[in-house]
Amino acid sequence: MTGSLSIAARAAYILRDNSTGLITKAAPALYPHQWSWDAAFNAIGLAAVDLPRARLELDSLFSGQWRNGLLPHIVFDPAADGYWPGPAQWECATLSEEAPSAPATSGIIDPPVHAIAVDRILAVARAAGGPEAERTEAWAAHLYPKLLAWHRFLARDRADKQTGLITLFHGWESGTDNSPRWDAPYAAVEVGPSLPSYVRKDKAHVANAGQRPTDREYDRYLWLVEEAKRASYDAGLLRQTGSFQVGDVLFTAIFARACDLLAKLAVHLRKANDAAELKDFAAEARAAVFCHVDEASGLAADVDLRTETWLRTETIAGFAPLIAGGMPLELRRRQVDMLLGQRWAGHPSFKYALPPSTSPCSSAYNPACYWRGPVWPVFTWLLTWALSRSSEPGAASALREASLAQLADETFAEYYHPVTGEPLGSLHQSWTAAAALDWLFDEA
Ligand code: SER
Repeated sequence: MTGSLSIAARAAYILRDNSTGLITKAAPALYPHQWSWDAAFNAIGLAAVDLPRARLELDSLFSGQWRNGLLPHIVFDPAADGYWPGPAQWECATLSEEAPSAPATSGIIDPPVHAIAVDRILAVARAAGGPEAERTEAWAAHLYPKLLAWHRFLARDRADKQTGLITLFHGWESGTDNSPRWDAPYAAVEVGPSLPSYVRKDKAHVANAGQRPTDREYDRYLWLVEEAKRASYDAGLLRQTGSFQVGDVLFTAIFARACDLLAKLAVHLRKANDAAELKDFAAEARAAVFCHVDEASGLAADVDLRTETWLRTETIAGFAPLIAGGMPLELRRRQVDMLLGQRWAGHPSFKYALPPSTSPCSSAYNPACYWRGPVWPVFTWLLTWALSRSSEPGAASALREASLAQLADETFAEYYHPVTGEPLGSLHQSWTAAAALDWLFDEA
């Protein structure tokens, strides 16, 4: 088999191997349930090989949606074991009338990449034509009100009035759990004496615990779950009581782009009022991202909403404006040059010219630890997706080629060491396989 064919075959095999028949586990052992943004990326990869499964993936995820529109960051598989904290710790249906009694879910959120997935699945189905295209059109129309409720939830309950950024009450909600972007707000979180004792399960599933967040960080993660439970997962209450409240530029940028695409779907479904509402959400979110670009560094900065301080860290989230799209040309050129330059993908020590999660020039850089330095192929996919739709096809294809060269090792790791190229974290990670499949499908 030639290189690309072999990567595609192996990636498709991994997505099948990680399937329970209903959902795709985010990873075989470390993450045996359905994670919200993982599921969306997985559905994109599945579209290349199995459209019915791509649709099922999102249907299963949305079966866990709450009555208020919240799409939880985990939908638990009752048959799976080995992940902690599980349903018994979250207690969502007991604590909130908004949560479904089944399936069991977490009570926090993940970045809203779902409308991006639906748009991509529709494009793949339309290119294929025939009955699958018709089924996918009908499916998208059926899913649309759930997506709209999710976006309305974010605009209503999570958009911060002052900054316009989407508010997060837990670092897990950003998807970039231990990124240095959250070091300062986490330093201010005081873990109370009532934190129940616990045993971490995640460290048993990785080769080296140094690739995962620390125990000190985990205490804070679990404490914030306790805080969210005490507030019955209510955003209004958490704004009064939460000891971690940040405005996330990357989450907001993804929301802006997803609102554009959902508005496009609304127009297609002849829902003009919804489309206008979604375009407003997109404009507000995009403006909030652009307002938080730091002049000196050229990177976007998150905001600690409790102290009203900008969090100027050199992490990949600083490129949020590239994800949001619609940047003025000068700002876009500056960000693309920086992304490919020596502080990022072009660092001379790197094995592949790929952007790391934290710049090697940052004092917080740790090339082996989770979001503190490694390269995440799924994030590279998100960048290539955005760049190729923002008149930057050269940058998009350079990153795609470099990432596919890395993925030729066929471990499909969760993340990679930027210098040695060593696969890290979980192997056979579904969204890594999905990214490879979509890249290769696009090339075909
Ligand atoms: N990413 C978290 C974990 O590592 C949860 O969302 O478990």
